[in-house]
Amino acid sequence: MKTKRTVLDIGRMKQDGEKISVLTAYDYPFAKLIGEAGIDMLLVGDSVGSVFSGYDNTLPVTVEEMIYHSRAVVRGAPDVLTVVDMPFMSYQTDIRDARINAGRLIKETGAQAVKLEGGEPMAETIRAIVDIDIPVVGHVGLTPQSIHRMGGFKVQGREQEQARRILADALAIEQAGAFALVLEGIPGPLAEEITARLTIPTIGIGAGVHCDGQVLVIHDILGLCDKYSPKFVKRYADISTTIASAVNNYVRDVKSGAFPTDDHSFK
Ligand code: KIV
Repeated sequence: MKTKRTVLDIGRMKQDGEKISVLTAYDYPFAKLIGEAGIDMLLVGDSVGSVFSGYDNTLPVTVEEMIYHSRAVVRGAPDVLTVVDMPFMSYQTDIRDARINAGRLIKETGAQAVKLEGGEPMAETIRAIVDIDIPVVGHVGLTPQSIHRMGGFKVQGREQEQARRILADALAIEQAGAFALVLEGIPGPLAEEITARLTIPTIGIGAGVHCDGQVLVIHDILGLCDKYSPKFVKRYADISTTIASAVNNYVRDVKSGAFPTDDHSFK
């Protein structure tokens, strides 16, 4: 097993040209498996609202839910650098709320960093959290908590003015002290330009091939969530089919009496 990475190591990986692998996790068994398989960093994403809780988007997720899931992840992968998403309305109200909630997400879970969405307007908030020694990952481009403003999950930054804004957002987040930046749902050339302009690593999701690292939702790469399959996802397994077949076989065995047998019984 690799030694546990720190936020400083993540910065060094960009300087050394080593790509950074990130996956989401929401529970103990997945975190354990992903950690043992050698991931660089785990994200307890507020995507938990969609892929775990079945909501249409991430907006209903609460701080309490993030704490519950993050505790399980940290127990499963104690040796992996873990970042926790700040859910909608846990940091947008004011800086005091943002600091209190970031503090809870670290103190009550054992994770090492928080992530929050937004560009220039969030720079002051990021600075305030970094100033109390909580490392922050920024997130710009397609920010799922802004789904209603964006009118859906749409690629951002295709028009020149929007691209200029996203670049300014990225620079502001670096300036505010974030140690890494997620670039989601933006054209590859824009992500390439941002990655070249920033000294902190960019972690892409649907942001082309030039980011310093990649993040995907674990359910997407395992084929566990067939609601949508975005273009930027690569499926590495088809776990839904495996689960369906196992459950079918179990039901068949119970109905036919093939399970349980004497081998499964106590004498
Ligand atoms: O919530 C999440 O899982 C995320 C990533 C996919 C970037 O924010």
